[in-house]
Amino acid sequence: MVAHRFVNCRPCGRLTVAVGVRLLDPMDELPHQIRLPSEIPRVEPLPPSIDVIRARRETPGCETVLHLNNAGASLMPDCVVEAVANHLRLEAEIGGYEAAERAERPLSRAYDAIAGLIGAERDEIALTENGTRAWDMLFYAQPLAPGDRILTGVSEYGSNYLAFLQVARRAGVQIEVIPNDESGQLSIAALEAAIDDRVKLISLTHVPTNGGLVNPAAAVGRVARAAGIPYLLDAVQSVGQMPIDVRAIGCDMLTATGRKFLRGPRGTGFLYVRRELAERLEPPFIDQGSATWLAPEEYQLRAGAGRFESWEGNIAGRIGLCVAVEYARTWGLDLIAARVRGLAGRLRAMLGELRGVTVRDLGQDRCAIVTFTVDGADPDDVREQLREQGINISVSRAHQTRLDMDARGFTALLRASVHYYNTDAELARFCAAIANLA
Ligand SMILES: Cc1ncc(COP(=O)(O)O)c(C=O)c1O
Repeated sequence: MVAHRFVNCRPCGRLTVAVGVRLLDPMDELPHQIRLPSEIPRVEPLPPSIDVIRARRETPGCETVLHLNNAGASLMPDCVVEAVANHLRLEAEIGGYEAAERAERPLSRAYDAIAGLIGAERDEIALTENGTRAWDMLFYAQPLAPGDRILTGVSEYGSNYLAFLQVARRAGVQIEVIPNDESGQLSIAALEAAIDDRVKLISLTHVPTNGGLVNPAAAVGRVARAAGIPYLLDAVQSVGQMPIDVRAIGCDMLTATGRKFLRGPRGTGFLYVRRELAERLEPPFIDQGSATWLAPEEYQLRAGAGRFESWEGNIAGRIGLCVAVEYARTWGLDLIAARVRGLAGRLRAMLGELRGVTVRDLGQDRCAIVTFTVDGADPDDVREQLREQGINISVSRAHQTRLDMDARGFTALLRASVHYYNTDAELARFCAAIANLA
């Protein structure tokens, strides 16, 4: 639906004219974009925004659940489900290898789509089973020696930290945690102060699994580049909810998953590794997908990121991932980011007004993930009560971000994570359910 409207701009109070406004959801706010310089209203088009009605129509799950567990796994759109199902059907009908031959084109397209999504080249992308395997392949390929230092953040993801601990035990490497600044995000000043020539890796989680913050990835990139230190960015929770450009961030390696904000199938992920760096890295394990057995005593690694890919894979899932990436790009990552930040900001404000509810988010720059506690309520019980009402949220546990959770004295936090297909009406229903907890 398209309309003209005269509206008072909320922040500045001036009369503005909005033309071509898509009336998507009666509870959606008009973007504050138009400022008129004179008293004669000037007609300007509003920037395009996400067509929420279409997004919901293309997402069958929106009819059955109020899904606020997008940081766990988002609802897949129809096009992804169809792509996966069609390929599985083809495998059943003509055989798995034969179906893969027919799928060469969409499989090849996946590399271009992902490269386009994050500002990389296609030979810098490898497809993986999930975000953790992508990260492990890159981390365990680092040539670390006793006495080397790894710098990381307070909110580093649990699986990454386990790998640090293992390598510290095996190889005598030191893990050093850079403290947060007063806002709760990684302190760039502390990072700069920690740099010396024993630092062999900077490894950071861009958007932690809970806590609502977006770590200053590009500022970290500037420090890493200036010092010539490899920089590995876990972007599992950020890819799909905001624009990502590996060159602008300055990371050498990046990892992501399919099922979260990208809305792809489970069991899919990818990694990026800068071309020149890839040639210097020996993967922790190889197979006939990542290397060629040239002679009884000789093998050759594939060029580029391909050396981190295994031969066998979930072809239907990879096709689904390709479609999910292309679908996200048709909406536009800028618009997705604006939409999810708006929703999450309003959700924080609404939750903050409920008695006994405390929002636990940190950092200057906040994202689609909202974490909170409810006084006297067991988080698992809250989640179950909501589930009975058709509302999905998740419980984030201490072992997932142990350093941050221990420092803040939490064993668990409630996590509600929005996506662009959520509406303000859903947020209101969710907050009413929280207010009415038994
Ligand atoms: C910040 C972060 N990194 C990595 C992962 C692991 O990704 P995957 O489950 O795809 O291996 C998660 C999963 O929740 C995460 O939140």
